Amino acid sequence: MAHRDCDYGTPESGSDKLVELEIDGFKVQVPEGTSIMRAAATAGIQIPKLCATDSLDPFGSCRLCLVQIEGGRGLPASCTTPVAEGMKVCTQNERLGQVRRGVMELYISDHPLDCLMCSANGNCELQDMAGAVGLREVRYGYEGENHLDAEEDKSNPYFQFDPSKCIVCSRCVRACEEVQGTFALTIQGRGFESKVSPGQNEAFMDSECVSCGACVQACPTATLMEKSVIEMGQPEHSIVTTCAYCGVGCSFRAEMKGAEVVRMVPNKDGHANHGHSCVKGRFAFGYATHKDRITKPMIRKQITDPWQEVSWEEAINYAASEFKRIQAKYGKDSVGGLTSSRCTNEETYVVQKLIRAAFGNNNVDTCARVCHSPTGYGLKQTLGESAGTQTFDSVRKSDVILVIGANPTDGHPVFGSAMKRRIRQGAKLIVADPRDIDLVRTPHVEADYHLKLKPGTNVALVTALAHVIVREGLSNDAFALARCEPDSYEKWKNFVSEDRNSPEAMEAVTGVPADLVRGAARLYATGGNAAIYYGLGVTEHSQGSTTVIGIANLAMATGNVGREGVGVNPLRGQNNVQGSCDMGSFPHELPGYRHVSDTTTRSQFEAAWGVPLSAEPGLRIPNMFSAAMDGSFMGLYCEGEDIAQSDPDTQHVLAALRAMECVVVQDIFLNETAKFAHVFLPGASFLEKSGTFTNAERRISPVRRVMPPLAGYEDWEVTQLLSNALGYPMHYNSAKEILDEIASLVPTFSGVSWNKLEELGSVQWPCNDEAPEGTPTMHIGTFVRGKGKFLLTEYVATPEKTTSRFPLILTTGRILSQYNVGAQTRRTANSMWHPEDLLEIHPHDAENRGIIDGCWVGIKSRAGETVLRAKVTERVQPGVVYTTFHFPESGANVITTDNSDWATNCPEYKVTAVQVTKVNAPSEWQRDYEAFTEQQLGFLENRTAGVE
Ligand code: SF4
Ligand code: SF4
Ligand code: SF4
Ligand code: FES
Repeated sequence: MAHRDCDYGTPESGSDKLVELEIDGFKVQVPEGTSIMRAAATAGIQIPKLCATDSLDPFGSCRLCLVQIEGGRGLPASCTTPVAEGMKVCTQNERLGQVRRGVMELYISDHPLDCLMCSANGNCELQDMAGAVGLREVRYGYEGENHLDAEEDKSNPYFQFDPSKCIVCSRCVRACEEVQGTFALTIQGRGFESKVSPGQNEAFMDSECVSCGACVQACPTATLMEKSVIEMGQPEHSIVTTCAYCGVGCSFRAEMKGAEVVRMVPNKDGHANHGHSCVKGRFAFGYATHKDRITKPMIRKQITDPWQEVSWEEAINYAASEFKRIQAKYGKDSVGGLTSSRCTNEETYVVQKLIRAAFGNNNVDTCARVCHSPTGYGLKQTLGESAGTQTFDSVRKSDVILVIGANPTDGHPVFGSAMKRRIRQGAKLIVADPRDIDLVRTPHVEADYHLKLKPGTNVALVTALAHVIVREGLSNDAFALARCEPDSYEKWKNFVSEDRNSPEAMEAVTGVPADLVRGAARLYATGGNAAIYYGLGVTEHSQGSTTVIGIANLAMATGNVGREGVGVNPLRGQNNVQGSCDMGSFPHELPGYRHVSDTTTRSQFEAAWGVPLSAEPGLRIPNMFSAAMDGSFMGLYCEGEDIAQSDPDTQHVLAALRAMECVVVQDIFLNETAKFAHVFLPGASFLEKSGTFTNAERRISPVRRVMPPLAGYEDWEVTQLLSNALGYPMHYNSAKEILDEIASLVPTFSGVSWNKLEELGSVQWPCNDEAPEGTPTMHIGTFVRGKGKFLLTEYVATPEKTTSRFPLILTTGRILSQYNVGAQTRRTANSMWHPEDLLEIHPHDAENRGIIDGCWVGIKSRAGETVLRAKVTERVQPGVVYTTFHFPESGANVITTDNSDWATNCPEYKVTAVQVTKVNAPSEWQRDYEAFTEQQLGFLENRTAGVE
């Protein structure tokens, strides 16, 4: 049977005061403000309902939920009537039964009676309610007017809309408004004419709909229904797991038929998403069984050779022998590996263990190098812990929300919806971003301040905000002096107070009018609970770490850290980027962020792993590339990461990959990096494995295997096989055992176990003896480092300057429907929303260059050149162009340079000086790319089949 969540009909009241009443003779105690419907449901009494559901505010339109209240007049709707002390409610008697049957009869008389053929059969609230009220006949027949011929809308690739089944309960409309915050649906017309309409009588695909699925979820009938359910039928069983796309970490119920996923339904009990989802997690899972999946290991001597399918044993032995050969020839440090932020904590842990214990060096890095490594550095230096300070739910208590360099509605959509909800409730919003991201102006949300700064000037802006706070006496000195190092605070105050750091002095640098900066600073410092959310628009800069430090300084100086509603919150990009950092993916840190040179920590790991470990930090990703070019780094084990597409300065990356003698790629598809590989080890998608992911709020959530791995192994098993072949045996029987080892070695994980995750659903680290159920809010009472530390944030302009040759600044970002390098989402219908990367350019810059919307433009930087189609828009400011990087042929990273953050080497993706011109042919790089890809796909197509 399909799973049906318990539905209390209306949301929780949130009051602490209890009220006692009697329902059908049973005494019930519930919080004040609870509806009668919910109170009854808590006592196990289900009052019939159609328009009510507990994820939405009560609406009171269907009149099915009427009850009788002793001493009261009429029959009030139980969903909209709150409980009162001493109230006596009757939910079931002859009169109520008659009224309900009458209501149902009217609904059913305008509803197709084809239940047996309907996709919702057996999982339909209308059907259930007809049964619940005892409706046995419909007297009106179909002779009168009805909607049975209403036309279906199948425009959305994932769900369809069949208005003939609609009962106009408005749940979809309200879900779109209240849960998703998109306001794409309306009820048009009145009375009999009223109907649900996307936009102004548009098709779903032409409307504002972002395909989050909330309306489909809310619909009590088969009117809005997943196409997969229509095709495959109702699911038979379900398994709770965690989305493998972004760092929100939504919990989902994979609803299955045998080993096939019928649909992914957001889990109401999910602590990060509370039953909401976005188009990626909800619908874009088809890549897992896409025909492009490679399920047999392959090897080849050179990248100009065709692939040869081989047994697992042969592939593993070949890879191991190559790594040993390379180490014998070039030295122990000539090989290394990359962990994946898409794989589980357990898999990441095992990869870094293989590198440290089996390779015998610390040459391990991860994609966080190119996204949030400055977060790790900046927050560790100031607050003492390399992670966000809050839960997502904390935003419900924020009065002021400052979003810097993040685009939550596209990058972290479910959290974006939560944030918009809070803003609609009255929280103030400050956006610091070079572009008009959706949050700046979207239905019922408008930023109080949009600080539209020039790319690359975050530090100047953050310091100017601090200047206003200090000079206008808006800082919380009592907090800062008690909780932070007083010397560092004094020094910092003196520094930010300098006239050269004033908004007026910085205006020329940031391009933001000083009065806006002053207003925003006052609002942040005095508007109540103020929370900062930031993303890659902060970190991917030459001063990424400095901005993170500046953000932490702002929070400490205003006392906005250490309680709910405030804090410093990095919005992590990939599903497990927090986890991959926690698990010791950096070359200088063992799991739990402890330096490899620390003898005590090292000896713990040496004792547990039974090998001596190197005390020398290993190579970071860019250093691996340089070492490959100079002939000292010759072998790479790359799991679930596509450096050939995602890392900056593509031509340099490709040259480095070509220079290596053995590149082993473990992935689910032949990604861009695999085209340069000598060994391909088939990976498993999140549906095929067990383990844990850690989201942006430090929440460790279980990933559960819902189908067997297509290639036979989960990723950690493959790593274990490789380690064994390298002569360092591992003996894990399950991901659970790996988690136990992590808990035994990482103090912040010491209380984490699979059983605890089963019991609590998920848990936020630190989870240990002091916090056995985890730590939702960090730094309460004291900072992790003891006293918070202010550091100075001197603005240093990026070396990447516009010139007459390269007069525009290119900045990059993401779009809702695609994910990162696009390897997964490009293999789903999500590409209907974003079939190609476009270059956004301001009308002035376009006009100067004779560029019109849709024409081909060449984008040239000192690193390289590529060609995209132009989108002329005022979303970007004059002088700035913008693109996404979801398609390899776009070559966005052919243009990005080798500039990087001073502290962490995180690439400066967000600032590249470019020239844009009208062209009519692809760039040379794109032509080469196409030819190379064709050759490599030919090698794949014509691979020599292995023995079954
Ligand atoms: S589409 Fe579904 S949720 Fe929306 S009004 Fe119709 S029946 Fe209700
Ligand atoms: S899918 Fe989401 S955005 Fe689209 S109409 Fe439904 S609730 Fe609104
Ligand atoms: S918000 Fe992120 S975690 Fe949630 S469903 Fe979308 S992609 Fe998945
Ligand atoms: S459920 Fe109460 S009026 Fe519809």
